[in-house]
Amino acid sequence: MEVLNYPETTFEKLPVVIFEHAAQGAIRIAQEIAGIIRHKQQKGKKAVLGLATGSSPIGVYQELIRLHQQESLSFANVVTFNLDEYYPMQPDELQSYVYFMHEQLFDHIDILPENIHIPDGTLAIEQVKEYCQAYEQQIKDCGGLDLQLLGIGRTGHIGFNEPGSASTSVTRLVKLDPLTITDAAKDFIKEEFVPLRALTMGVGTIMKARRIILMAWGESKARILQQTVEGRISDEVPASFLQSHPNVNVVVDQWAALELTRIKTPWLVGMCSWDDNLIRRAVIWLSLKMQKPILKLTDEDYKDGSLSDLLVEAGNAYNLNIKVFNAIQHTITGWPGGKPNSNDAQRPSGQCPRVSARSFSARTPTTT
Ligand code: F6R
Repeated sequence: MEVLNYPETTFEKLPVVIFEHAAQGAIRIAQEIAGIIRHKQQKGKKAVLGLATGSSPIGVYQELIRLHQQESLSFANVVTFNLDEYYPMQPDELQSYVYFMHEQLFDHIDILPENIHIPDGTLAIEQVKEYCQAYEQQIKDCGGLDLQLLGIGRTGHIGFNEPGSASTSVTRLVKLDPLTITDAAKDFIKEEFVPLRALTMGVGTIMKARRIILMAWGESKARILQQTVEGRISDEVPASFLQSHPNVNVVVDQWAALELTRIKTPWLVGMCSWDDNLIRRAVIWLSLKMQKPILKLTDEDYKDGSLSDLLVEAGNAYNLNIKVFNAIQHTITGWPGGKPNSNDAQRPSGQCPRVSARSFSARTPTTT
C-alpha cells in the first residue's frame, strides 16, 4: 500500500509517507485520529482536534464516519477547532466551512454540538479582533490541540496563512492570495463571488499542536509539496515552517510526490534498480543538465552527474548513449497509429537513409 515509506533525509526535511492512492493515505490518517480519540477516552479525557476543510480531508472524514458507524468509534469526548472560514460568510451558505463540516463529518457522528468550533464569518468587522483572541484562548483552555490536520494550497498556505505570514502569527483576519481565489472559484461559480478575506488560525497556532499531519493528493500539489519538504524555511512557502515542528508527518499519494527528488531523480538519492524506463529518464536528464546531445555524453559526464552507478551497470557511456538514443528515435514515426503490414524492428537504421547523418541529427530534438 505504502509505496515508499523509508525516511529520505538527503533532500527531505520533513518526514514524508507516500501512498499509491489518496484513499489509502486517508485511511491511515483516520486510523491515527481514531487511535488518539480512543486513547483519550480510556484516560477519561477529551481529544482536541484541529480540522481542515477542502477536498483533501474528505477521504479522512469518510473513514472516520465508517469507523463510527461500523466500529463503534465515539466522538462524544472529541472537541474540534476548524482552521478557517471565509469572511464574510453565513453558516448556511453552501460554500461556508460550517456547512462543509456538517455535511462531510459532524452530521454523521456523535460529536456534541457545543464541542464544535469554527471561526465565525458573520461577525461585524469591529468584533473580529476580540473574537480571534477568544478563539486562541478557547484552544488553550482545552489544553491545546492533540492533532492538527492540514491540507496545503498551491500558494503553500496552511489554513489561510498565505505567503508572507509570520511563523508566530495567531488567529486573525487575512487577505486571500489571488491564486487561492482562483482555486476557490470552482466552489463559488465565478471567481468574483469568492470572498477576498478569511479568518484563519495562525502559523503559530498550528505549530503549537502536539502532532501535525499535512496531506497532499494529486499532481497539482507536486510542485508546492517539493518546495515545502525540500526547500528552505521561508514565509514565501508558509507550509515550510512545519520543518521546525518536532512531530509532523506529510502524507501524500504518488502524484503529489512526483516532484520530490527521490521520485523525480532517484539516482541523486541512492542506488537504483535500473530498468529501461529509468535509464532513459536518467540519460535525458543528464543530457539536459550537461546541455549536451545524448550521443556526446562522456563517461566523465556520467560520473559528474551522479550516474556512475548506471555506468557500472551498462559498461560505458557509448553503449548507454546509443541504447537510449535509439530507443527515443524509435518513437518517431510518420505513422503514429502504426504502419500496416510493416516490420519496423530495425527502424530507424534503414538501408537507404534519405537524409544525411548531419541533417538528421540537427533535426532530432534529443540531440540539440
Ligand atoms: C481549508 C484550509 C486550506 C486547504 C487548502 C487545500 O480549511 O485550511 O488550507 O487545506 O487550500 O485545499 P484542498 O484540500 O481543497 O486542495
